[in-house]
Amino acid sequence: MKVLASDVSHYSILNVMDWLGIGTDNLIKIRSEEDNSISISDLEKELRKLLDKNEVIACIVPTLGTTDSFGVDNIKDVAKLRDDLVDEYSLDYIPHIHADSVIGWVFSVFNDYDFDKNSLGLPWSDDIKKINDKIKYLYLADSAGIDFHKLGYAPYISSLFILKDRKDLDLISRDESLMPYLYHTGHYHPGRYTLETSRGGGGVLSALSNLHFLGKNGYSVLLAHSVEMTMLFREKVKEIGAVILNDKNIGPSTLFRIYPEEYKDNRLDAYKKEIEDNASLLKECNEYNERIFRRVDERVRSKGEGIIFSMTKRYKQTEYGADITALKAYMTSPHIKNENIESIVREISNAITQIT
Ligand SMILES: Cc1ncc(COP(=O)(O)O)c(C=O)c1O
Repeated sequence: MKVLASDVSHYSILNVMDWLGIGTDNLIKIRSEEDNSISISDLEKELRKLLDKNEVIACIVPTLGTTDSFGVDNIKDVAKLRDDLVDEYSLDYIPHIHADSVIGWVFSVFNDYDFDKNSLGLPWSDDIKKINDKIKYLYLADSAGIDFHKLGYAPYISSLFILKDRKDLDLISRDESLMPYLYHTGHYHPGRYTLETSRGGGGVLSALSNLHFLGKNGYSVLLAHSVEMTMLFREKVKEIGAVILNDKNIGPSTLFRIYPEEYKDNRLDAYKKEIEDNASLLKECNEYNERIFRRVDERVRSKGEGIIFSMTKRYKQTEYGADITALKAYMTSPHIKNENIESIVREISNAITQIT
């Protein structure tokens, strides 16, 4: 059995394949486009190749909101492709579509928002609409994951797994006779279908209270603020020599690379060369960015001063197989203001001066 997901999907897919006994070797990773969404043409090619060999497609996993760059797969196209291939190959089963929407689900609060009116006066509303234009098709998935502890602003852990057809849950259910001591009444029998036995109810309650407390408008304003701060950050960090790697992704996350002084004025060319064939330049700039990250991080950890930001060792791989390291800023705090963005950029700038 094969499972297909993009090359920037989350490693938790491997965990699940391991637990289910499908085997981690059976994950097929599909190239992602420049906007970090799965390449639909490559997905089609791969699916056809597998179906021609009579392989079983257990699941396709579109990611709606990738971990690093907030790439959003086009689930509408994925679902259409799946349906067309089921017909064309007269399959006697339907490959499951599980949407890994643990990060992006929350943008569905805009499903019925009138972007023309923009009654909440949201900044960047045209761009938020573009995110929602993909997320609004989440209902096409056979199942979806939601993490309230991510952009749902709830504490760890409060995850939700939703199935469209409850009969699908029977496929992974345990027989009740294995649990003779439990579940004699009521209809809530989680032991039948989850890995855990005992678990707390805190996560669910915090998710529920946030949904009630914030509502669609509250979430809309929080998300728009996060996008606004992200865009401001991108503008400011470019002024100190950064290239934004995920500039095609509007969302809470920015992946960027800073270039040493000698490349500053032609940094876009430098980035292009690095990804085309200049492995030594790539290595040099990877190390340079890692040094910036370590300098900022060291100040936070040793002195409790400065800012916490992050790094990803492998944003993507170049076509010649080398890792592209990126610095990463995730603007989710509702308290962040314009002046905080200035100080974040100042911290990065100071770190640059100190390492050179
Ligand atoms: C895209 C994506 N999928 C899945 C996961 C796993 O979610 P959790 O940590 O709630 O198990 C994460 C992050 O943790 C993620 O970023």
